Amino acid sequence: MVSKVLKKMEVLRGFIQIPAESESELIGNTPLPCFTMLNSNPARLDKYGRLWSPYLKNRFSIGTVVELNKTENGYHVAPSESKQEGSISEMRQQKEVMLVSPSLESQTTVYWKVLEGDCLEYLNEGSVKNVHLTFFDPPYRQRKYYRFFDDAQPAWRYWGWLKENLHKVYDATVDGGAIYFMQREKNAEQVSKVLRRTGWKFQNLIAWKKKTSAVPCNSRFSKQYQIIAYATKGDKPRVFNKLRVDLPPLPEHKYERENGVYLTDVWDDIRELTSGYFAGDEAIRDSKGNRVHTQQSPVALLLRIILSSTLPGDTVLDPLAGTGTTLVVAYQLERNSIGIEIDPNYVEIIRRRLGFPRPSDDVSRYYDYYRFTPNLREIWKPKRVITEQRRLL
Ligand SMILES: C[S@@+](CC[C@H](N)C(=O)[O-])C[C@H]1O[C@@H](n2cnc3c(N)ncnc32)[C@H](O)[C@@H]1O
Repeated sequence: MVSKVLKKMEVLRGFIQIPAESESELIGNTPLPCFTMLNSNPARLDKYGRLWSPYLKNRFSIGTVVELNKTENGYHVAPSESKQEGSISEMRQQKEVMLVSPSLESQTTVYWKVLEGDCLEYLNEGSVKNVHLTFFDPPYRQRKYYRFFDDAQPAWRYWGWLKENLHKVYDATVDGGAIYFMQREKNAEQVSKVLRRTGWKFQNLIAWKKKTSAVPCNSRFSKQYQIIAYATKGDKPRVFNKLRVDLPPLPEHKYERENGVYLTDVWDDIRELTSGYFAGDEAIRDSKGNRVHTQQSPVALLLRIILSSTLPGDTVLDPLAGTGTTLVVAYQLERNSIGIEIDPNYVEIIRRRLGFPRPSDDVSRYYDYYRFTPNLREIWKPKRVITEQRRLL
């Protein structure tokens, strides 16, 4: 354990300079810079031994004596008990950053958990439970390159793996909880079968119509949509918020809609993050401008799913988290989230994305579009959490 007094710049900019004499204790042989965690929040240790985290910004008063410890997952910082002033400040600040669910009388801290490894192993362990909603977006077995997944495996093995996962997610879900299972449209039959066999009650087959991309075919119509099967544990959903959207009027419509329209099972108003120009700012790119994950889901898609099937304070699971879109949106909507991802590179991206929010991930820009939803204020208290546009890599 190392004690130190926080200086003005540390407090204002959100870092702790690890004292040179404590480097061997707190950093050891870790190559710098690196990403880490601080009090369960994403953090970064730079090459000068400064531990950065948005969590630290203005958290303690200038001059507070803090104690910094190395933990299993990163670091833990707390005001030294001998300095009462710091403790009070810490308590006050913690209250301020607490996200309180409007649906619950008790105060609830919203958390995210990023688990690195095989989703089935975590699900088998049984520590993931009381899930209210799962977003299930597996690789599609279409020979794409994944570092830790064979996307060219035989169909029987692939569907067997999906079945096992869906079964375990079902066990981890509360009664009435929901799942949204993304797949290619040609697999609609298997999707329905595997959901039924694992206990899920099918509710809708949503067609997510792409804005710009279509896969050309010579012997049949080109493909322009993807399916999302929505199913529940039990016949009735525990939560289903009927969302209304402000669709722009079509030329053939006789009247303007003064009150928006209810959503149907065809979603043609969410733009995919295709390659090239249209992917825009939201797609996470490396230093050469290439997208780091070709299957990154748009935040607008997760916004719709989470808003439809959860309440603030609920828990959302993404067992195949990729770039962490689900967690990024869940946090802004004051839902807890658990993401599991097998590729450590993506895990690092998720942590950075959560720790250093980008304007392109900010869902509050869609609030107006949903303003006709009757209970919108109960299910979504928008807050701008995004500061400045940054490259994640
Ligand atoms: C289609 S992508 C999900 C993309 C995600 N929706 C997003 O917004 O970025 C599927 C992800 O599952 C991960 N994956 C594959 N096998 C896994 C496993 N056994 N356990 C956990 N993650 C796995 C892949 O590395 C990949 O990132």
